[in-house]
Amino acid sequence: MANKSWVVLSLVLCVAVAVAVAVVSASDPGLQLIFVLGDSTADVGTNNFLPTSMVRADFPHNGIDFPSSKPTGRFSNGLNSADFLAQMLGLKRSPPPFLSLNARSLRKKRFSGANFASGGSGLLDITGNTSEEFLSSLELAYENHLKSLIDLGARKFGIISVAPIGCCPSQRIHNTTGGCLEGLNELAVAFHARLDALMLKLSSECKDIKYALGNAFEMTVNVIQNPFPFNFTQVEAACCGAGKLNAKSFCIPSAKLCSNRNNYLFWDLFHPTQAASKLAAVTLFNGGTQFVTPINFAQLAKA
Ligand SMILES: *[C@@H]1O[C@H](CO)[C@@H](O)[C@H](O)[C@H]1NC(C)=O
Ligand SMILES: *[C@@H]1O[C@H](CO)[C@@H](O)[C@H](O)[C@H]1NC(C)=O
Ligand SMILES: *[C@@H]1O[C@H](CO)[C@@H](O)[C@H](O)[C@H]1NC(C)=O
Repeated sequence: MANKSWVVLSLVLCVAVAVAVAVVSASDPGLQLIFVLGDSTADVGTNNFLPTSMVRADFPHNGIDFPSSKPTGRFSNGLNSADFLAQMLGLKRSPPPFLSLNARSLRKKRFSGANFASGGSGLLDITGNTSEEFLSSLELAYENHLKSLIDLGARKFGIISVAPIGCCPSQRIHNTTGGCLEGLNELAVAFHARLDALMLKLSSECKDIKYALGNAFEMTVNVIQNPFPFNFTQVEAACCGAGKLNAKSFCIPSAKLCSNRNNYLFWDLFHPTQAASKLAAVTLFNGGTQFVTPINFAQLAKA
């Protein structure tokens, strides 16, 4: 990786907690290479190539708003956050799943990078652990991950911390009031503070790295508390699913599907809609310091 390369780390899922990383390398200004690593929020079909994976989305109604309504393996009605981040960096959408690449595609002039994100890959088993143990092991995993990428030559890091995971439909159904699970949200807030401190430390140890840290908690709570300017009318229930809050089932062909998908924050019990993913990418790129610090992704791209 050349020294202009940069990295996006994101934690935007609802399950326990998940990790997504994108490495963007632009050694030649005319050539943009993007490498995405992460969980199901950024998966563009990796799991389709993993015959034993139980975490898949290569069937309807997933992809209903994708060109030709194709279920690509994205956990979304259309594009996901990896696609929108890639678009804002000048690509048509996310680079393809790495498992779909062969030697010929690597030599292509139009080679744009690869997406390593895989649904389920970010899941950590937190049962039996105190929140302190959990936060520490997650922080350590991040630190090791980041240091390996720095060793490989990455110098720009775009990082997205944990969303209010307690507000996902999958979690709300465990609160008798239908409200968010506050304990999970507290973990998300605490983890953001850890990441903030970690990035300050890493950037003082390695002076030539640059980063932008997106606060997915603030971004999402801002929308949940004030959904109408963003055209969301449903921020609690999933669009595709079954039962209470449409969160008792995954989005499978027999699931109940909403018609006004642009008005829903959640596509299924865990994942955001295409509309929510787009809003997140726009906020990361152009947002102010309440959402992304010390600079936003657009400033990072130019830095
Ligand atoms: C708790 O986290 C530690 C890492 O900090 C791990 O080694 C241990 O296996 C975890 N315990 C359980 C019960 O998951
Ligand atoms: C359930 O939601 C309510 C708000 O509706 C909140 O006050 C309460 O703390 C939540 N319960 C849990 C267990 O998080
Ligand atoms: C909300 O919807 C209206 C009407 O469809 C549209 O003009 C406007 O741009 C949308 N706003 C956002 C933030 O997407």
